[in-house]
Amino acid sequence: MRDEILVPGVELLESMRSVGYSFESAVADIIDNSIAAGAKRIQVLADSVKASYIAFLDDGAGMSPEEARHALKLAGTSGSERDSKDLGRFGLGLKTASLSQCRRLTVVSVQDGSLTALQWDLDYVLSTGNWSIRVLDPADLPEIPHADELASLKTGTLVVWQALDYLLAGAPDPSLEVSERLMSLRHHIGLVFQRFMEGRAAIRIEVNGVAVNNVDPFLEGSSKTQIGPREAVVIDGYVVTVEPFTLPHPSALSARERKRQDLGAAMREHQGFYVYRNRRLISHGGWFGLAKLDELTKQARVRVDIPPELDQQWQLDIKKSRVEPPQAFRSRFRQIIEHVTGGSKRLHQFRGRASVRSDAVYLWRAIEERGGYRYTINREHPMISGLEAQLPLEKRKLLDQTLNDLATYFPAPDLYVRMADNQPRIEIDSTQSELRDRLRAIRDAGGSLADPEAILPALRRVEPFNNVVDLQSLVAQVWKENI
Ligand SMILES: Nc1ncnc2c1ncn2[C@@H]1O[C@H](COP(=O)(O)OP(=O)(O)OP(=O)(O)O)[C@@H](O)[C@H]1O
Ligand SMILES: [Mg+2]
Repeated sequence: MRDEILVPGVELLESMRSVGYSFESAVADIIDNSIAAGAKRIQVLADSVKASYIAFLDDGAGMSPEEARHALKLAGTSGSERDSKDLGRFGLGLKTASLSQCRRLTVVSVQDGSLTALQWDLDYVLSTGNWSIRVLDPADLPEIPHADELASLKTGTLVVWQALDYLLAGAPDPSLEVSERLMSLRHHIGLVFQRFMEGRAAIRIEVNGVAVNNVDPFLEGSSKTQIGPREAVVIDGYVVTVEPFTLPHPSALSARERKRQDLGAAMREHQGFYVYRNRRLISHGGWFGLAKLDELTKQARVRVDIPPELDQQWQLDIKKSRVEPPQAFRSRFRQIIEHVTGGSKRLHQFRGRASVRSDAVYLWRAIEERGGYRYTINREHPMISGLEAQLPLEKRKLLDQTLNDLATYFPAPDLYVRMADNQPRIEIDSTQSELRDRLRAIRDAGGSLADPEAILPALRRVEPFNNVVDLQSLVAQVWKENI
């Protein structure tokens, strides 16, 4: 028996381009490296006029000449020798993410007064048939966009993508394409690195000179978000933290929040698990096939924090944009989903009612029968029974028919479409004088509701009076008029 070495063909570099990175996930992989290098300011600098390059400049620790060579080597850093806080894993990101978008990758780094500039050029590799990188001289640097800005830093790294063939593939107007990509990039970066961009040690990330705002998928700052309970799931000695959130109903969001890509009409697609590895968002949305993206559960989002020790169990992919929970977690997750989506459903069903009580008296009733449901208007509601009592007998039939027609022709399909579209619903509160008129009608209907002492607890359960802040004095005023 003897060994034979099979050296991979250089075409491997071309094949690796198709791992399936999106532009956003490729950029996130480059930013990962800057954060891991301790950068405080990371700039994404794109040529949005000629679309000739996208550059990433950071003020992190930089690389020595040896480290820079290591960095450009495929799978140069293995998983075992890493710090547990490292955002990297495979030793591939810099190369695969870059070449998934462009044909030429240049890395320039400064550390301890020495500057190293290296380049993978796909066409050069393919033409020579060798796995050879180009080592750039100081004389080559003026060709590299933003290299002068790096030179002014004590330590730092510049990554430049040129010949953006995949990024611009088929785009009729490259400059417009770049501008549009940058817009959605801002949201993606703000979301993926949100937890690095807040607090005292916040990292500043800029896209073409404008700071990226962090994007909180859980709207934790909003008083209307329901949070928790947080729980730690321990499996094989490793702790995975899980925290559910129920976002406010879309109609309770501010106009600015509603415009956010993941909150307006698209809220439904963005429900689900948000999985973080070392505080960096890996996958967002979806229930890992354990539940549907239901309209009624669109406000439910669950934050999951996994430690890097579980990368393999969770099948972290090279692009760091996908994970799959191991079997041991799936059954626990199913319970968590049931709990949190139950909360989200309740929020929908009771929206708009001040008191959620089983003895509440609503104007509309949902009747379940024959395997389906229908709505009726509640004849026992004091406003309806009061009106009925005041009508002569011969007119009551007309009232009956009118109420039946109102219920039958309730525009449910139209409402469904609007709610699915998250259109804000305008609720008109009754004015004080309208409320008084209604109370008078109830008062004048007499019967058991005529006594102001007896009526108050009853009215507190009744729409629309259950929303009135000082119902007691309003009732007192109306009943006094009668004396
Ligand atoms: N901006 C940077 N500043 C300093 N060092 C860097 C920078 N970018 C890359 N490196 C070095 O290059 C190495 C290789 O980076 P690369 O992204 O290819 O792999 P990785 O981060 O180790 O793993 P992964 O494939 O999971 O991203 C890094 O481990 C790091 O040492
Ligand atoms: Mg990396």
